[in-house]
Amino acid sequence: MSPSMSAGRAGQSTPDRPAPVQHPDQQRADPDGIYALQVSNLHKSFGEHHILKGISFAARKGEVLSVIGSSGSGKSTLLRCINHLEIPDQGEIRIGDEVLRSRRRRNGEPCTVDPARLNRVRAKLGMVFQNFNLWSHRTALQNIVEAPVHVLGLSHADAREQAMLLLDKVGLTHKQDAYPGELSGGQQQRVAIARALAMNPDVLLFDEPTSALDPEMVGGVLKVIRQLAIEGRTMLLVTHEMKFAREVSDEVIFMHNGLIEEKGRPEQLFDHPRSARLGQFLQAVQ
Ligand SMILES: Nc1ncnc2c1ncn2[C@@H]1O[C@H](COP(=O)(O)OP(=O)(O)OP(=O)(O)O)[C@@H](O)[C@H]1O
Ligand SMILES: [Mg+2]
Repeated sequence: MSPSMSAGRAGQSTPDRPAPVQHPDQQRADPDGIYALQVSNLHKSFGEHHILKGISFAARKGEVLSVIGSSGSGKSTLLRCINHLEIPDQGEIRIGDEVLRSRRRRNGEPCTVDPARLNRVRAKLGMVFQNFNLWSHRTALQNIVEAPVHVLGLSHADAREQAMLLLDKVGLTHKQDAYPGELSGGQQQRVAIARALAMNPDVLLFDEPTSALDPEMVGGVLKVIRQLAIEGRTMLLVTHEMKFAREVSDEVIFMHNGLIEEKGRPEQLFDHPRSARLGQFLQAVQ
């Protein structure tokens, strides 16, 4: 059953039972609940530099979106704005039916409107960084167990059992007691993916997960991400791996100068770019 069918039935009214009143946020943007992530008119400046100039897109549940573009085009800033690691100056982030907004303080600095909501939204977002960001003084297993125990309130035994399943999923059961310093880059990144999955996020954000890796390590990490795509995880993936983006993505976004210059299905975007800038970019990287 599609999410839209289920939401439609739940929202039906009968003569003796009026339709349930929806929160205004639900009414407006996604009444059928088909989107996992919606980004609307996102702006971000650093000082005088206007980095994001009005970014809007949406990912349906289960979709994989890739973001490509040259260095400095604002890809990482976009990902960081989605979970308010950078607070946007303007625009809205919607994860399921939770909406994140920002406002300006008197001194002009942007801040999150509702910090409690931010915590709830962050629990629904998994982020995997270029440089892994594992806790160096914790083993692979401890890295994965930590957040489910402290944020989700899982018992240590349950979190450990889940962590072992996730280590198996990323092919690292034998490294459960290794510290990050004892793991290769590719292995650290796979632990980082397992750590993100341990929170059972609705959306996974990846910022160039393979670009810090030696070439022989890239394949193992891409294999794990490919499996997540097959399982129907909603993912937003900033990547320089064009072949991989073409293979796993439902849609590809090309950013240029803080704007979405072109967006489309991978075969359209890679084989028939409409924008001259995208054509040049693809020639340079492929
Ligand atoms: N915290 C910050 N303070 C000031 N400027 C920043 C900050 N973060 C990013 N920038 C600037 O914003 C612009 C976009 O940076 P961003 O990291 O989003 O680019 P990117 O597309 O991810 O590039 P790359 O492919 O090299 O990772 C760059 O000019 C960068 O210098
Ligand atoms: Mg970047």
